[in-house]
Amino acid sequence: MMSDVKIDGSVIIVTGASSGIGAAIARLAHVRGMKVVLAARRADLLAELCASLPGAIAVPTDVTSSDAVRALIDRTLAEFGRVDVLVNNAGQGLHLPVIDVDLDDVRAVFELNVLAPLALMKAVTPVMRAGGGGAIVNISSGSTRRVLPGVGPYAATKSALNTLSEVARAELANDNITVSLVVPGVTKTAFHDVLRAGSADVANAPKCSPEQVAEAVLGVIESGAAEVVVSPVDQRLS
Ligand SMILES: NC(=O)c1ccc[n+]([C@@H]2O[C@H](COP(=O)([O-])OP(=O)(O)OC[C@H]3O[C@@H](n4cnc5c(N)ncnc54)[C@H](OP(=O)(O)O)[C@@H]3O)[C@@H](O)[C@H]2O)c1
Repeated sequence: MMSDVKIDGSVIIVTGASSGIGAAIARLAHVRGMKVVLAARRADLLAELCASLPGAIAVPTDVTSSDAVRALIDRTLAEFGRVDVLVNNAGQGLHLPVIDVDLDDVRAVFELNVLAPLALMKAVTPVMRAGGGGAIVNISSGSTRRVLPGVGPYAATKSALNTLSEVARAELANDNITVSLVVPGVTKTAFHDVLRAGSADVANAPKCSPEQVAEAVLGVIESGAAEVVVSPVDQRLS
């Protein structure tokens, strides 16, 4: 299913826009002429990025708060009158062996990596329907495609997100709303330094760049493809 979203001039909400992949998506969306709504908790970083993206707005948001999600959508509508694209990018790792994990940490990453994207999808869908369609992009992880000891709890959140995305894609097709997955491999961001718990030694792993992932996101917004895998190998070839 092709997306009807015309990149130039359309309104995009990017969660987790204060750093890493989300900041790269916001910058590239701005370069391509989109009206960018920056959402994350760190208001100082959002304000700094926003100042470099004329026409963008920063809406400090904890995506695990339903009030904050409502306020994010309301502010976007007040400013721009529509939502064409949602990128569910905010997320956190939990890198421990399955049997060593603390269940409160598991609940927290499910809240952030699964329930928050779901809440955002629920919140934007009526707005996109009213606007004639849209595109939703959910940032998954290559850890859902391989059995990687030590990342099971995190990979489980992203696998849940994959399933919700794939089913929502089928359910929303008649509303002219595409739901796509972008599946990055290890990416050069602060992600592995701010895990909810546990650790991962990725110092020597080949890495994607955040800009490479951002290109993939803009690509699926236009193509409406079901998924795009972003591999570090691409970077070494380019
Ligand atoms: N880096 C990798 O190797 C890799 C690989 C595959 C997939 N991913 C996925 O890519 C996405 C982006 O990660 P990244 O690599 O760019 O890591 P990052 O630099 O740590 O960025 C994570 C972002 O999520 C935001 N965030 C965390 N909790 C939040 C909350 N409660 N409400 C709103 N925003 C929240 C953070 O902003 P605040 O702290 O300001 O709220 C930050 O902007 C994540 O979903 C991650 O799972 C990363």
